[in-house]
Amino acid sequence: MLIKRPTDICPSEITDREIYRARRQFLQSVPAALAVAAAPGLFATPAFAAEKLPGVRKNPFSTNEQATPYKEVTTYNNFYEFGTDKADPAQAAKTLITRPWTVFVEGEVKNPRTYAIEDLLRLAPLEERIYRLRCVEGWSMVIPWAGFSLNEIIRRAEPTGNAKFVEFVSLHDPKQMPGQRSGVLDWPYVEGLRLDEAMHPLTLLAFGLYGEVLPQQNGAPLRLVVPWKYGFKSAKSIVRIRLVEKPPVSAWMRAAPGEYGFFSNVNPAVDHPRWSQARERRIGEFFKRATLPFNGYGEQVAQLYAGMDLKKYF
Ligand code: MTE
Repeated sequence: MLIKRPTDICPSEITDREIYRARRQFLQSVPAALAVAAAPGLFATPAFAAEKLPGVRKNPFSTNEQATPYKEVTTYNNFYEFGTDKADPAQAAKTLITRPWTVFVEGEVKNPRTYAIEDLLRLAPLEERIYRLRCVEGWSMVIPWAGFSLNEIIRRAEPTGNAKFVEFVSLHDPKQMPGQRSGVLDWPYVEGLRLDEAMHPLTLLAFGLYGEVLPQQNGAPLRLVVPWKYGFKSAKSIVRIRLVEKPPVSAWMRAAPGEYGFFSNVNPAVDHPRWSQARERRIGEFFKRATLPFNGYGEQVAQLYAGMDLKKYF
């Protein structure tokens, strides 16, 4: 993102998901069992990754493109709270405690709410949405998320007439998030959407992927997924959803205003100041492919920006 140029991984690193999982579970079970035996009570159950999410329905918004293997989705991550290398979060985020977890829905609403994560999970039926994710760095993945439209929460909060934008705030806890002890970003991680973008049915609040509870490195216990925008708009490990009158200043806009705009719609015609956005490399593939306007979701979302100069409002 800010610091590095696009990085690549080698297609030969790809392992079948089930082989990878079996290997990982074996490797994890031995030291964990030993540690718990040695110090019972010391380890709060940090998360429920790999727990199946029941009753996830199929959803017509899904792409039928080949999903990126589980291993890549869960080991090639951007989550600066846990380090700036792609491999860091899969290791460092293991200790993120995701239960109990509280989410505040507040600001310009008639009906502010405080949700325990368990209640949020029951708010609406979970759907599998297989979305393309295009990172601003020039790589992309196809990920089978599980969640429901963000508008389920916003509707229930009843936005007032002053609510024009929605701000998303990720957890700020330097004790748990070692990256927050560095100044790589001005913490907490903040992102924002215009209210109509947040209400769009494609905008997903995700609790899982591949039919299971989100692994910590992917933003457990809940994250945003806005598939027509660059991946950094999809804030992870959210604790606050705030309806506001003015456009929120995101962590990336604060860090580098010339490089990251508020809208950040995927747009092959507008280059990042330091690299082209015309093409992308799908993780697991060798040849690059053309990037599509709005990441291929133009039919659903282009009308949100009718009449806007997308070079100016990048
Ligand atoms: N959310 C938080 N809180 N911190 C981050 O560093 N990185 C963003 C986004 N959400 C990030 C974040 C970026 S740059 C991308 S590309 C996506 O998460 C990556 O999501 P993934 O690791 O699940 O593929």
